Amino acid sequence: TLVMMAADENEEMRSLELSGQVGFNSLPHQVVRKLVSQGFCFNILCVGETGIGKSTLINTLFNTTFENEEADHYEREVKLRSQTYELQEHTVKLKLTIVHTVGFGDQINKDESCKPILDYIEAQFEKYLEEELKIKRSLSNYDDTRIHICLYFIAPTGHTLKSLDLVMMKNLDSKVNIIPIIAKADIMSKTDLGNLKKKIMTELQSYGVQIYQFPNEDEEVGEINSSLNARLPFAVVGSTEDVKIGNRMVKARSYPWGAVQVENEEHCDFVHLREMLLRVNMDDLREQTHSRHYELYRCCKLQEMGFKDTDPDSQSFSLQEMYEAKRREFFKELQHREESMRQMFVNKVKETEAELKEKEKELHERFEVLKRMHQEEKRNLEEKRRELEEEMNAFNRRKVAAETLMGQALQGCSQQ
Ligand code: GTP
Repeated sequence: TLVMMAADENEEMRSLELSGQVGFNSLPHQVVRKLVSQGFCFNILCVGETGIGKSTLINTLFNTTFENEEADHYEREVKLRSQTYELQEHTVKLKLTIVHTVGFGDQINKDESCKPILDYIEAQFEKYLEEELKIKRSLSNYDDTRIHICLYFIAPTGHTLKSLDLVMMKNLDSKVNIIPIIAKADIMSKTDLGNLKKKIMTELQSYGVQIYQFPNEDEEVGEINSSLNARLPFAVVGSTEDVKIGNRMVKARSYPWGAVQVENEEHCDFVHLREMLLRVNMDDLREQTHSRHYELYRCCKLQEMGFKDTDPDSQSFSLQEMYEAKRREFFKELQHREESMRQMFVNKVKETEAELKEKEKELHERFEVLKRMHQEEKRNLEEKRRELEEEMNAFNRRKVAAETLMGQALQGCSQQ
C-alpha cells in the first residue's frame, strides 16, 4: 500500500492512502546509486608490536598485497605510517587507508607510546571539524581520514594483557572503535587460547575499557553480531601463502605437523573478523565513528571554543550571543593589552630617563674631578716654575759675584 503522511506541528500525524503510483518509493535506489557513484572510504588503524603480523593480516583480509616496509626494533619513538589505496569489488569503489604503528612497544620507557597514536586520531577529527566550520564547505566529497576501526593486536604470549595494552586501549576507547585481536593464534594451544580470551575479556571489563560492540538490535544482522560479540577477542592467523589441502588451494600456514588454514573456523577466527569488519558492520563502524567518537570530540572542542547550545527556555540565538560575548571578550582583552603595553612604554621611558640622568650626573662628577685635578696640576707647575726662577736668580747672583771676585783677583796679580 502506498501511504502518504501529512504532518502538522499542532495536529497528530495523519495517514493517507495514495490512489496510485507516485514514485518516491525509488528514493532508496536513488540514494544507493548516488553513494555507489561517489564511492566509499574506510580507514583502519593497526596497533601492535613490531612483527606481530599486522601487514600479513591486512593482506589476508583484503586478499591482496599492500606495500609494507619491515620495521626494525630500534625506533626511538612510536610513529605512524599511513598508506591509501583504491580498491574495487564489482561496482563498489573503496578508498582504503591503512595506518600502521611503527616501533610500538620497542622503547624501554613506554610512557610516550600512546601520545603519537592519540594525536593522529585527534588530528583527523580536527581536520574534519575545520572543514565543517568553513563557510564554503564540501563535506560530500571531503577526503575523510578519520579512523573507523582500530585493530588492536595482542601478542599470543603470556597469561593476559600487558599493562601497555591496557593503558593504550583505555586511552583509545573514547576516540575510536576498538577490536582486540589475538595475533598469531596458531602458536597457542586450543586450551591456552580459550583461557587467554576469557582473561582478556575479564580484564578489559574490570578496567572499564569500552571495546566496539557489534550492534545486535538490527533484525537482519542481530543474530550474527551476537555470535560475533561472544567470540571477542578474535584469535586470528594471517597468511598469503596458498597451500594445497586435499584438492583445493587454500590460504594457510604450513608446519612440519600440518597446516593451519586461515579460513577454517576450527583453526581460527579469521573468517569471523572478516565477516564483521567488511561484510556486516563496515557501515556501522563508519556511523559510530561519526556519531559517537567524532561527536564527542566536536562537543568538547566547541565547548572549549566557547560555544553553547541554545537554552530552550530563552528565545535567544546562542550563536549570536556567543559571537557578541566573544567580541566583548576580545575587545576587553585588546584594551587590557593596549593598557599594559602603554604602561610598559611609560615605564621604559621613565627607566631610560633615570638612566640618562644618572649618566649625566656621573659625567658631571667626573668632569669636576678632572677639573680639580687639572687646577691642582697647574698650581704645582706654577710653584715649580717659581722655584726654578728663584734658583735661576740665585745662580745668576752667585755667577755675578764670582765674576766680580775673579776680576778683582786677576787685577791683583797683574799689579804685582
Ligand atoms: P612490522 O610492520 O615490521 O611491525 O611487522 P608486522 O606487524 O606487519 O608483521 P608482519 O606481517 O610483517 O609479520 C611478521 C612475521 O610474522 C612474518 O614472518 C610473518 O610470516 C609472521 N606472521 C604473520 N602472521 C602470522 C601468523 O598469524 N602466525 C604466525 N605464526 N606467524 C605470522
